[in-house]
Amino acid sequence: MVRPKAAIARSKIVNVRLTEDEHSEILATATALGFETVSEYIRDLHEKAEIIAPTIGVPVTQSIPAKKYSAPKQYSETSYGQILHGDSLGLLHTTLKPKSVDLIMTSPPFGLVRKKSYGNKDADEYLDWFRPFADGFRRVLKDSGSVVIDIGGSWNAGMPTRSLYHFELLIMLCQEYGFHLCEEHFWWNPAKLPTPAEWVNVRRVRVKDAVNCIWWLSTTPWPKANNKRVLAPYSDSMKHLLVNGYKAKLRPSGHDISTKFQTNNGGSVPPNLIALANTESNSHYQEYCRKHELPVHPARFPVGIPGYFTKFLTDRGDLVVDPFAGSCVTGEACEVLQRRWICCELDEQFLKGAQSRFLREKVESMPQNRAQQTAIRKKPYELFAPCAVSVTDEESPLFMDGGRSRPKAASPAKTVKAS
Ligand SMILES: C[S@@+](CC[C@H](N)C(=O)[O-])C[C@H]1O[C@@H](n2cnc3c(N)ncnc32)[C@H](O)[C@@H]1O
Repeated sequence: MVRPKAAIARSKIVNVRLTEDEHSEILATATALGFETVSEYIRDLHEKAEIIAPTIGVPVTQSIPAKKYSAPKQYSETSYGQILHGDSLGLLHTTLKPKSVDLIMTSPPFGLVRKKSYGNKDADEYLDWFRPFADGFRRVLKDSGSVVIDIGGSWNAGMPTRSLYHFELLIMLCQEYGFHLCEEHFWWNPAKLPTPAEWVNVRRVRVKDAVNCIWWLSTTPWPKANNKRVLAPYSDSMKHLLVNGYKAKLRPSGHDISTKFQTNNGGSVPPNLIALANTESNSHYQEYCRKHELPVHPARFPVGIPGYFTKFLTDRGDLVVDPFAGSCVTGEACEVLQRRWICCELDEQFLKGAQSRFLREKVESMPQNRAQQTAIRKKPYELFAPCAVSVTDEESPLFMDGGRSRPKAASPAKTVKAS
């Protein structure tokens, strides 16, 4: 390859110490690719600005941020954390050091998905919006760290069909940015109202949408974790079995149920279905907002969601970041669990109310047993097996038009006044 003429004098020299082997391998690759010198080869690599994901060999083209994002401003401080006001792109690309974060725990806005009747455009716009954040996540996350994204699904406008945007986000993060999907979780909110009413209550062609997807990702396949920190109480049948014993046998499924099954481990490993009503744990915050005429954040998650992942994936003193902080629920969970935290929010109105989570009287009322206290409820929720109410096919024939028209007898849902 002909050596290109440099427009500007190349006066700087960088010394890179290499082993004999490294030197001969790099030289061999440069020669095989037609470069006359190693420096031409390195210059070419730099121009392409390609970053190769270190662990899986998936080439990840990261867009180098074209502009410098300005750092968000400090809004307030607590014993363990900081609330920042501003664009979290500044936090991710400017404020935070590379590989400094143990957990990114967040719920990005999903209202950005414009209601369109069909097609992919809404999802495409969302992905483009998310890309600089994905770059930032990769930049700041430690190799042992995790990203947890709670993301609600969305309905296509005027249709009983769902947008694919949250699945496309997951695929983009894994395929374009080299994240690993550690395990998807599903957050079932037992208090969710039956929506959208038109498809669920009126035309009766869909069921209640009561589950959010939570994508747990990491930059290597080996983020730190320990499920013993998030055990669920044993069921009554398991308690009985622990006391009365179990006959070791091979199950029809092929699973060998050995006597080890009888060991009391202090609780059972929870499933990747998180049952948590969104009515709990936000009451102090709501009261404060009402009293001070501040807007209550409309899309909060309960403190048990960040509490669960923070306990599962971080140690005391680790750094947890929520770049879409809203009312700073992640900060509250971390303050309780004694993790360092940074919550960054664009809209200052929400930060005024968020501060109530860290007032002295609130912190003093926090239970002493910090390990337990993000889980306020100890009772299980009730979830029936499918078709627990018996209805014959004849009693409820299918809507053959798939819900295109409203059933004659059906009327829009009425508000029932309490007597
Ligand atoms: C779904 S809400 C998060 C709610 C939060 N988990 C809670 O429980 O209160 C998403 C938040 O992200 C904020 N946001 C959107 N873009 C942002 C950005 N570039 N930087 C910081 N915050 C942003 C929105 O203002 C919104 O409050």
